[in-house]
Amino acid sequence: ARTLLIDTDTASDDAVALMMALRSPQVEVAAITVVAGNVPVEQAVSNALYTAELCGSDVPVFAGCDEPLKRELESATWFHGQDGLGDHGFRPTRRTAEHGHAVHALSSCALANPGLEVITLGPLTNLATALLRDPSIAKNISRCVVMGGAPCCEGNVTPAAEFNIWVDPEAARIVMLSGIPIELVGWQLSRYDAALNVDDIEKVLALDTPLARFAIECNSRAREAYLEQTGEHGISLPDPIAMAVLLDPSLALEVSEHDVEIECESVLTRGMTVVDRLNVTRDERNASRWGEVHDHGRPAKIVWKLDVPGWK
Ligand code: BDR
Ligand code: CA
Repeated sequence: ARTLLIDTDTASDDAVALMMALRSPQVEVAAITVVAGNVPVEQAVSNALYTAELCGSDVPVFAGCDEPLKRELESATWFHGQDGLGDHGFRPTRRTAEHGHAVHALSSCALANPGLEVITLGPLTNLATALLRDPSIAKNISRCVVMGGAPCCEGNVTPAAEFNIWVDPEAARIVMLSGIPIELVGWQLSRYDAALNVDDIEKVLALDTPLARFAIECNSRAREAYLEQTGEHGISLPDPIAMAVLLDPSLALEVSEHDVEIECESVLTRGMTVVDRLNVTRDERNASRWGEVHDHGRPAKIVWKLDVPGWK
């Protein structure tokens, strides 16, 4: 059986990704660790608990880091709503968080489950902190799908950077350089053909179940934001796409491995996922250009294309 740990800054699209994993027969979710990102960490914990309740799951939920390693938290309530779930009053009624800290839970879970799969749906602060405290956990993680990055310079916070990486670039850098086998599912994949269109939304609502209604309702603010950003009706769902790739790797139609570094110095390109597609940083002729800070990065798999009907 595949054992999965989900790290999330639970807001609207995270909630859909959680439902996918909690209801999937393909994985056993050992724990949900929560981090500050879209919303403050207490709110994200409440959202994860509510989602787990709705799925009838008793998966343990742990509260984690409440701010990035070196920066102030910048949340995304303008996109997800003040409570991260579109402000409909979704609150847990039965469940509460575990007592331990998410960073500790993450390490214990990795140590107890060699071959553990991890997916990160928020800033990488929890995983980076766990790695700083005990780098040996890396060897027990067989696969880490990271929803993050914008390798084509199509960021959603700046032209260069995607939210999860931009919020805590230092943490992202630690994870990228840790030796964990990383698969990057960038934000740009969730737009255009992969976004839910109006017909898709109607199909989901026609299921007429509490989970289907919640999946659409909790994205109501995200739907408005998508319209403001693109002029189109729809919902873009980066975290569920990453979860889909985790659950069924065959959905990633084009994947290639390249060195990846994270930009932590510049203001213009803060949090950029710098993907060395042409291997130039390993070219000896360029070696003198790369100091200690900017070495050639580490290999990560980058997903470029999804199995989506009509993908251009
Ligand atoms: C990512 O940031 C958040 O807004 C979403 O939940 C997703 O994880 C997209 O950039
Ligand atoms: Ca997220």
